[in-house]
Amino acid sequence: NEVAKESLRSPICCIMGHVDTGKTKLLDCIRGTNVQEGEAGGITQQIGATYFPAENIRERTKELRPDAKLKVPGLLVIDTPGHESFSNLRSRGSNLCDIAILVVDIMHGLEPQTIESLNLLRKRNTEFIVALNKVDRLYGWKTCKNAPIEKALALQSKDVVIEFNMRITHVITQFKEQGLNTEIYYKNKEMGDTFSIVPTSAISGEGIPDLLLYLVMWSQKTMVEKLTFVDKVQCTVLEVKVIPGHGTTIDVILVNGVLHEGDQIVACGSQGPIITTVRSLLTPHPMKELRVKGTYLHHREVKAAQCIKITAQGLEHAVAGTSLHVIEPDVDIEEAKKTAMED
Ligand code: GTP
Ligand code: MG
Ligand code: NA
Repeated sequence: NEVAKESLRSPICCIMGHVDTGKTKLLDCIRGTNVQEGEAGGITQQIGATYFPAENIRERTKELRPDAKLKVPGLLVIDTPGHESFSNLRSRGSNLCDIAILVVDIMHGLEPQTIESLNLLRKRNTEFIVALNKVDRLYGWKTCKNAPIEKALALQSKDVVIEFNMRITHVITQFKEQGLNTEIYYKNKEMGDTFSIVPTSAISGEGIPDLLLYLVMWSQKTMVEKLTFVDKVQCTVLEVKVIPGHGTTIDVILVNGVLHEGDQIVACGSQGPIITTVRSLLTPHPMKELRVKGTYLHHREVKAAQCIKITAQGLEHAVAGTSLHVIEPDVDIEEAKKTAMED
């Protein structure tokens, strides 16, 4: 239908950075969840995904900009591991996204996987925002729960502001050494050439409104073409998982198009192409993490962009990181099989 064709899909945002900079904790802070504390050793070892509806983003950003117009239905955020051994997952995440958040610990500055992530993003010309996280660790920081960052900074003592400025200047210099111009976002007059830094705390929420609003406003302003919904299904397999009661399932990111129950699909399998029929389309509740076991919502159809758990027969040998294709009635099955195995 015409309306659907003209509408924007949700931007896909990947969150990347060095281990323990607070990527998962930032998402927990926005979701109101506690995923990070449930992780083995506090380390993310899988790609995660969470859908944030526009109305939740609206609520979280209204103090900062009460009149902001959100044109996208929401934001789909992909969480990636920062541990050095998961570079394949960082690469997979960065390949999927329209925009990214590069998280840097304000107390540590740039670290090896910050630079690795930065280079992955640059390779694909992906726009990103730097979240300079853990501002609450500055000595003497006064908590200002969930406040816009300028409001929180106005309440800090002179010494805190001096330390804040010193650390941010240091990080800007470190980025400069990597050939990248950065500036704190509200001083950035050359968006596009100069990358923006948003100071945040994942523990007390300062700067979270700024981060969310900036992400949404910037994507809907500069990426209209990329975010225009198209019918053709574009879908990537994140994980292949056995779920009690559901058998082998695949977690996917639907980048574009619509998936329906009963769709005939072809996936890349380690032992050849897998042709099967979608038995059910499950999503986590909005603001819940796909990789955490929980209750799922059943859908007849799901429109992009979304994270979905698909149940179907024969998925045991599906290969994570490859594309999933829908076999349209007019498509030659042999051709579809070939395309599926090209990944
Ligand atoms: P990996 O996914 O394993 O790479 O780590 P991560 O970047 O997701 O970091 P994670 O959310 O696991 O946080 C690492 C540690 O830093 C945890 O102990 C968090 O509680 C802590 N932390 C994260 N963000 C903040 C913050 O803003 N302030 C403070 N004080 N601690 C934080
Ligand atoms: Mg994490
Ligand atoms: Na961690």
